[in-house]
Amino acid sequence: MGFVLSVRDMEITWQSHSCFELEGSMNILVDPYIEGNPLSPRSPLEFEPELIAVTHGHADHLGSAGEIASRTGCLVVAIPEVVRYLSGQSVRAEGMNIGGSYQVSNVILHMTQAIHSSGITATDPPLCGGGSAGFVIDDGIKVYHAGDTALFSDMKLIGELYRPDVALLPIGDRYTMGPREAAIATSWIRPHVVIPMHYDTWPVIKQDPLEFKSLVETLCDAEVVIMDVDETIEC
Ligand code: NI
Ligand code: MN
Repeated sequence: MGFVLSVRDMEITWQSHSCFELEGSMNILVDPYIEGNPLSPRSPLEFEPELIAVTHGHADHLGSAGEIASRTGCLVVAIPEVVRYLSGQSVRAEGMNIGGSYQVSNVILHMTQAIHSSGITATDPPLCGGGSAGFVIDDGIKVYHAGDTALFSDMKLIGELYRPDVALLPIGDRYTMGPREAAIATSWIRPHVVIPMHYDTWPVIKQDPLEFKSLVETLCDAEVVIMDVDETIEC
């Protein structure tokens, strides 16, 4: 990718659904839904992150976080209720909440609002997962991972406050924004690059990302990057 905004570069790899690896000053894994993910070609054993960020307790986001973190000893950052659940699995986890920031080495995590539900669905019955969130991850390049969310007008505030370079937005519809809402979100957040996520994992969230791309192009000048699973781009 051509744009240079920062002293540091970042490699972004999509592991399908809402799972991304961000490789900047440290290796960060967001929403590691690997085991049981019909689109993921990888095993949880292949990941050696230094930090895992979890947006909410649903199984397709919390995913393999516990397994990867207990094997590697890496830190997990999530909302306190998810941290409490993970702490029971001998995982090193730190809580934060919406509106707050937390620095890990050179990386600053800002936890942002998301409009969604949040129970920990890996257990039966589900446990209270606190709330549902997103993150702006600032490692020189600033990446906004929206988590699972509806469109909400404070995305304008997220854009103003954190000025993300890259936005990762769900487009699958039904459980989150669809292409139309996500295109409006892009115009409000005003990132340089937007990457669609949370689609095609199952038939109920099948989408054409090219529809999202053309909608974005009618609203703003963000570059839409449609990633392949396991593909890496450089920002
Ligand atoms: Ni969810
Ligand atoms: Mn989800």
